[in-house]
Amino acid sequence: MFVFFKTRKISKPSFINPLLNASFLLVLLLIAGSSGCRTSKCAPSSADNPQKAEAPNRTGPKAEGGDTVKPEIPDYNFSIGDAEPPTLAGAIKNRRSIRSFSNKPLSMDVVKQLAWATQGVNSSRGYRTCPSAGATYPLELYVAHTSGVYHYLPEKNELKKKSNNDIRKELAIASLNQMSIAQAPAVFVFTAVLKRTSRRYGDRAERYVNIEVGHCAQNLALAVAGMDLASYPVGAFSDNKVKDILSAPPTHEPLYIVPVGYPSE
Ligand SMILES: Cc1cc2nc3c(=O)[nH]c(=O)nc-3n(C[C@H](O)[C@H](O)[C@H](O)COP(=O)(O)O)c2cc1C
Repeated sequence: MFVFFKTRKISKPSFINPLLNASFLLVLLLIAGSSGCRTSKCAPSSADNPQKAEAPNRTGPKAEGGDTVKPEIPDYNFSIGDAEPPTLAGAIKNRRSIRSFSNKPLSMDVVKQLAWATQGVNSSRGYRTCPSAGATYPLELYVAHTSGVYHYLPEKNELKKKSNNDIRKELAIASLNQMSIAQAPAVFVFTAVLKRTSRRYGDRAERYVNIEVGHCAQNLALAVAGMDLASYPVGAFSDNKVKDILSAPPTHEPLYIVPVGYPSE
């Protein structure tokens, strides 16, 4: 931009040019710092958040430890084996709550693709596949698999094993005996750390977190449908029992459960 001003002949006193450059740069900085928003429509307003307008996030989301994250973005096409990658229209057309699973196991590779679709990082600045109020990212995703319990770490795109226990049956019982949960080879459990969002949004955070888990669960439902797998969302469960069964940190409050597997024939 300096070049732009330098190469144009402007018949103004010489002290004006530095002033013009400085103000032009300031305007550019203000635009660039608008938290990834590309239009003024997505700029937060005080009406959106009665407590506090959202501060522009110039560096992208931070990892829990405070470091800015720069993850590698996986090159998934959401296919199983040699199957064609699905179209979004096909996934939307196919999506259904399916509660009956075959006993075919679900590979950890597929589970990881689904976890990435649900909560993965899809931007070099650390933003994720599903939206988050103020990029506060309150959700923590667990997967109860036949081989154990895993915690998804978005910044590393890694499923960290927490235990070798198969807790699917316990989750089914805690979900008012919805026993088809125990038949699914992988049970996704969404939990949330409300504080991450309420720190910024106060009482409005609860609404935001509930909306957010819906966004993310829909990502999962569509990825599942696109891969010709089966899933259904479960809201009916005992929060405390699920929390105990997961052995997650006490701040990770269970919100939603989605069993996933191959549909029974
Ligand atoms: C918030 C929420 C909670 C739900 N909880 C359960 C549940 O506990 N058990 C269940 O079998 N289905 C549950 N469902 C799935 C609905 O029953 C299902 O979406 C509805 O019957 C429509 O069918 P469809 O998803 O195939 O379009 C839930 C759906 C939503 C949105």
